[in-house]
Amino acid sequence: MSYVLGIDLGTSSLKGVLVNRNGEVIETTSSPYSLQHLQQGYSEQRPNDWIRAFEQVIKKLSEQVSDFSEQLAGISISGQMHSLVLLDEAGEVLRPAILWNDTRTTKQCQQVSEELGEELFVITKNDALEGFTLPKILWIQQNEPEVWQKVRHILLPKDYLGYYLTGTYHSDYSDAAGTLLFDVGESCWSEQVASKFKIPLDYLPEVVDSSQAIGNLRDELATMFQLKQEVTIFAGGADNACAAVGAGILTPEVAMVSIGTSGVFLTYEGNAAPNYQGKLHCFNHAIPANYYSMGVTLTAGYSLNWFKEMFAPTLSYEELLQSIDSIEPGSNGLLFAPYLLGERTPHRDSHVRASFIGIDASHSFVHFVRSVLEGITFSLKDSQTLLADVADKSFTKIISIGGGAKNKDWLQMQADIFNADIVTLKVEEGPGMGAAMLAAVGLGWFADINECAQKFITYSEAIKPIKANVEQYKEIYSHYRKVYLQTKEL
Ligand code: XUL
Repeated sequence: MSYVLGIDLGTSSLKGVLVNRNGEVIETTSSPYSLQHLQQGYSEQRPNDWIRAFEQVIKKLSEQVSDFSEQLAGISISGQMHSLVLLDEAGEVLRPAILWNDTRTTKQCQQVSEELGEELFVITKNDALEGFTLPKILWIQQNEPEVWQKVRHILLPKDYLGYYLTGTYHSDYSDAAGTLLFDVGESCWSEQVASKFKIPLDYLPEVVDSSQAIGNLRDELATMFQLKQEVTIFAGGADNACAAVGAGILTPEVAMVSIGTSGVFLTYEGNAAPNYQGKLHCFNHAIPANYYSMGVTLTAGYSLNWFKEMFAPTLSYEELLQSIDSIEPGSNGLLFAPYLLGERTPHRDSHVRASFIGIDASHSFVHFVRSVLEGITFSLKDSQTLLADVADKSFTKIISIGGGAKNKDWLQMQADIFNADIVTLKVEEGPGMGAAMLAAVGLGWFADINECAQKFITYSEAIKPIKANVEQYKEIYSHYRKVYLQTKEL
C-alpha cells in the first residue's frame, strides 16, 4: 500500500511520520539538531542542519521499512513558523536562520508599528512581534547590509526544505501569514507592506494551498535515496496549522492546546479573518480559505525541559513527573511564571523574565515540578481568557497535544485549569500527521481534509474537570495573573 511522509521541521529536531492510506502510522523517526544562542535573546540555526536531519530520517526509514522505497508516493512538510532563511541569486544560504524565538528585534517591531499604524492590523491581522519574519528582515537590512545586498530569496524553514527537494521556491498561506508581509484577509503578499520596507516582491516565494504540489523530488535526490517511484512534494503548512489539521481542529466548537517548545491555545475561525488588533495571532489555516487564531506561550515545554536540565538532568520525564499528583493543586503557594525568553500572549513583552514566587521552607523538589507545570498551563489559560474577552469564545472541549498530553496528571491539571473536557488523540504525531494528511489529500486519496480526518483521526475518552480543583484553581489563577503586573518593573 502507498505511503505519504509527513515531515515536522521543528525547533529541536526534524521528525518524519510515515502513514498509509488507512491513516495507520507505519513508522516514525527523528533526527535532532541544535540551537545557537550567540548572545542573550539570539536564537539561530543552520539550514544545512535541517537538510542533514532530513537525509537521516529518510535513511532510517529506508532501513526500517522494507517497502519504503517502492511505496513512498508523497511528502509534505510542516515547519516552525516565522524563522528567516535568506538565499542569494544561486539559491545558496547567506547566513544562519534567525528563529521564531529570537528576540533581538524590539527596535524593528517599534519601527513597523510606527510606520504602519492601524494598517498593520487591517492588513496582517497581527501585531509586530519580535518572533515574526518582517522585523528580522529589517534587522538584517540595518545590521548586516552586506548580507542584505546579496539577498534574492526570502524563505521560511519548511519552504527551504521544499526548495532543496524540488528546486522551486514556494510557500503556503498558513506559513506566509506569519511573516507580517502577508495580507491575511486577501491571501496574497502585501505590496503596501513590502514596498514600505523596501522588500522587492520577487524575493518572496509563490504562495499556494497547503495540499498543492510544488514539484517532484529532484532526480538526483531520488537516486541518492534509492526511491523507486516518482515522489510528489506538497507545500505543507505552518506547524501550528498542521498540528490543528492533525488534531481535527476543523470546526469552531473545539479548541486545541499544544505544548511543544512553545505552547499555543488555538481556535478555528472559519472563512473570515477577524481583526483582534494584534491581541491574539490570526493566520490563514492550512485548509483552503479558512483561518485560525491563537495565543502563544513562548517557553512552554521549553520551561519544563530547562527545569529538568538545570535541576534533574539524570531523571527521565516520567521520573520527573511521577509524584506530582501527591501535591495539592497550587503547589502549596508556589507560583512559576514561565517567561524564560520573554512572553507573547497576553503580555507581548520580550524583556520580562521567569520567576518562582512564594518559595516556602516546606517546599520540596516535587512542589517545584508541579508549579512549573501549573505555570505553563496558567500562561495558556491567559490565552483562553483573552479569547473569551476579545472574541467572546468559550470551549467545553479542548484537544490536548504535544508533551503536555503525555502525562495523565498534567492532563487532569489542564481539565481543572481550563475547566473543560480534555481529549487526546489515540495516535498522536503532532504537526507531522497534519502534514501527512495534506499530502494524502494532495495525492487525491481523499476529497478534502474533512474526509481524510474521518479516516486518520481517532480520539481517546475525555478527561473531565474535577469541580473542587476547578474552584481552587480559579483562585490560584487570580494570584498568577498578578505576578506579571507586579514583577514586570523588576
Ligand atoms: C507561533 C510560533 C511557534 C512556532 C514553533 O507563532 O512562533 O509556535 O511556530 O515552531
